[in-house]
Amino acid sequence: MKSYTPPTIRRLHAEPCNPFRLGSAPRCAEIDGVPVERLARDHGSPLFVFSETALREKIREARRVFERRYPDVRFAWSYKTNYLNAICRVFHEEGAIAEVVSEFEYEKARGNGVPGRDIIFNGPCKGRAILERAVEEDAMIQVDNLDELLLLGEIAARRPEPVAVALRVHLDTGTHAVWSKFGFNADNGEALRIVRRLMQMPGLRLQGFHAHIGTFILEPGAYRKSAEVLVRLALAAEKLGAGPIRYLNLGGGFASRARLHHQYLPPEQATPGFDRYAEAICDTITQVWPAGRLLPRLYLETGRALVDEAGYLISTVVAVKHRPMPPAQPLAGVLAAYGKGMVAHGGATARESDRPALVIDAGVNLLYTTAWYQPTILPARACTDSPVPTTVYGCLCMNIDVVREEAPLPGLTTGDHVVLHPVGAYNITQSMQFIAYRPAIVMIAPGGQVHVIRRRENLDYIQELEEIPGHLVRKQPLRKKIKHGSSATRLFRRLQPPVLNGRKQP
Ligand SMILES: Cc1ncc(COP(=O)(O)O)c(C=O)c1O
Repeated sequence: MKSYTPPTIRRLHAEPCNPFRLGSAPRCAEIDGVPVERLARDHGSPLFVFSETALREKIREARRVFERRYPDVRFAWSYKTNYLNAICRVFHEEGAIAEVVSEFEYEKARGNGVPGRDIIFNGPCKGRAILERAVEEDAMIQVDNLDELLLLGEIAARRPEPVAVALRVHLDTGTHAVWSKFGFNADNGEALRIVRRLMQMPGLRLQGFHAHIGTFILEPGAYRKSAEVLVRLALAAEKLGAGPIRYLNLGGGFASRARLHHQYLPPEQATPGFDRYAEAICDTITQVWPAGRLLPRLYLETGRALVDEAGYLISTVVAVKHRPMPPAQPLAGVLAAYGKGMVAHGGATARESDRPALVIDAGVNLLYTTAWYQPTILPARACTDSPVPTTVYGCLCMNIDVVREEAPLPGLTTGDHVVLHPVGAYNITQSMQFIAYRPAIVMIAPGGQVHVIRRRENLDYIQELEEIPGHLVRKQPLRKKIKHGSSATRLFRRLQPPVLNGRKQP
């Protein structure tokens, strides 16, 4: 008689289909024609790599798509997304002005040759000194809160001409959480109350409205709502006697081809093209704006959609491990676990084999965005075995340093290079210096030349701003304090390079 085998639940892994184990696993051998192995050899690992061609192609495409649909549109490069000077300059060369949110970013944009009148100044924390400079230099200030408005009123009162400002608003698009931290509420009448307040301030003049509804907005319809609310606000403000409203600023937020955790569709299908965002925004403004009147200028502060895919991270496998999976459970246990909101792995009796795991020489301190997105990880060399779900750990001494819980990878070994992509947005600006030097960053020019655009950090750079209080400054070299003849002295001597003719030998 056959014995009873309890049913099992086994988790299915989505991985590239290669049932016959033929051919090779997908790989990334070169970036813009430059071999990954050469980049790592010449500039070290890990290494951020940017493609200048990809940057230029993206912004050209975005401009083309919007300019086809709208007569007066300008892109403002959102500095916070990636403020490496080389990258900002590529976008400025391509006609983008600057969008900044702090004194630091304002100064950076000025340093990159952007005149004040071509800087859109956002942010909830603009100090008096930088506001005075921005007013002086005719920057496009977008007011975030009442205190800032009052401060601006004070600054403007000392000037001969009224200072033109815009108001930032937030609104409910019905599709995404409201970013109510920023600006004035456009849905409950607050924004119009602020317009009235502004009209009582003789030094200020209202010239625009701004809404940045969020980031990685996969639903273009959200911009329809946002554009309509801005147009209606502009018309209502003008009716009150404010204005004329010269511009509407729809902010940033277009999604890149990154993949969110738990996103089912691949980015090629889930991420809308620029044309869908352009259609939503431009068609709405042209439909709702009064016929026969000159359309207001449209500003866009797109960040991640322009830079994310241009950025790669090359990293090296430093250890190969196995990751034990949770113990197998009988079906009853599995069902109970699901009831408690847990996901179970493994079968009723057989243990699922451990999952392969790799440690790479880059951690989540460099890849801040892995908290939300799963970068693709591909080997640089050709591998003939099938990819299997592999955990990719970072190099930090923290258990949370997991770059990918489960990436489909063929068997790799120490010294192999892997390429993570897309990583161009926010990772550089939000990276943390933690227990390791942050790596060099290079940009590949359209002709294939590789330029270092940020050198690798070193100890001097990291310690540059440190001060040692006087009582901790060592008065005498360590060597003199050690008693002669002690084992510590002997060890110390052994570690010192020999001195020959008064010069240290290597
Ligand atoms: C005011 C403002 N504009 C533009 C951006 C850029 O957004 P994204 O990178 O999603 O396009 C941001 C980012 O948070 C922002 O806060």
